[in-house]
Amino acid sequence: MNADARPLTVTDLLALKGAGRRIVMLTCYDAIFARLLDASDVDILLVGDSLNQVIAGHETTLSATLDQMIYHAAAVRRGTRRGLVFVDLPFLTYQISIPEAIRNAGRVLQETGAHGVKLEGGSHMVETVSALVERGIPVMGHLGLTPQSVHALGGYRVQGRGEAAADRLLNDAKLLQSAGACAVVLELIPAPLAGRVSQSLSIPTIGIGAGPMCDGQVLVLHDMLGLNEQFAPKFLKQYATLGQTVREAVRAFAGEVRESKYPGKEHSFE
Ligand code: KIV
Repeated sequence: MNADARPLTVTDLLALKGAGRRIVMLTCYDAIFARLLDASDVDILLVGDSLNQVIAGHETTLSATLDQMIYHAAAVRRGTRRGLVFVDLPFLTYQISIPEAIRNAGRVLQETGAHGVKLEGGSHMVETVSALVERGIPVMGHLGLTPQSVHALGGYRVQGRGEAAADRLLNDAKLLQSAGACAVVLELIPAPLAGRVSQSLSIPTIGIGAGPMCDGQVLVLHDMLGLNEQFAPKFLKQYATLGQTVREAVRAFAGEVRESKYPGKEHSFE
């Protein structure tokens, strides 16, 4: 980490967009990766409910619970000094009523030390976003492919195609901004639409599968590190092959144990 770097604040996000500085966001679910990401100057560590798939092995994000999110977010926050920590509000923790949304989002900030929450949805979430923001809880929106609606959307497929859908998405983004959202994730939408949304908003857009014209980019950490080897959608770039590294290391350990080569004298106490 740049030693002079002061911790980021949520209000810095607007300034980063104003200065044309791309925002770097990655998912993070634990303290050890949080320390590594923070040391690499990642701006936002997102405790995504994707942990329900990546860490817990479920098919979707739908069964993630608030307590699980809080457990992981507290660990991430303990490993972070410079970056902002945002936490996904899981399915059914903010959709039922505004008081429940306030209580649950408040718990996230209170019990984890995170800086803000992320929630999915457009026009129907505007009042909830306003209510949270008015109570001092920073909110990041999430439009396009919203994984908590995967069944209604008919799968993990590109959204916002066609004029009507594109106009709807742009309108949703503007409504989220008016409600006080500090940023909005655009997931799996055509790149020209993401460019249009980004130009129309003063708050930053953070894209995943939304092309290069967003104000920032996010990926699921385990995917970009090559730990989730079967997952290879078009938008994903793997920056490492850690799956292979882990297999090689584990095979080397297993071989040495079976051949009684490990532990050696240098690893043993007299
Ligand atoms: O849950 C998650 O990891 C996310 C990102 C894919 C944006 O919402």
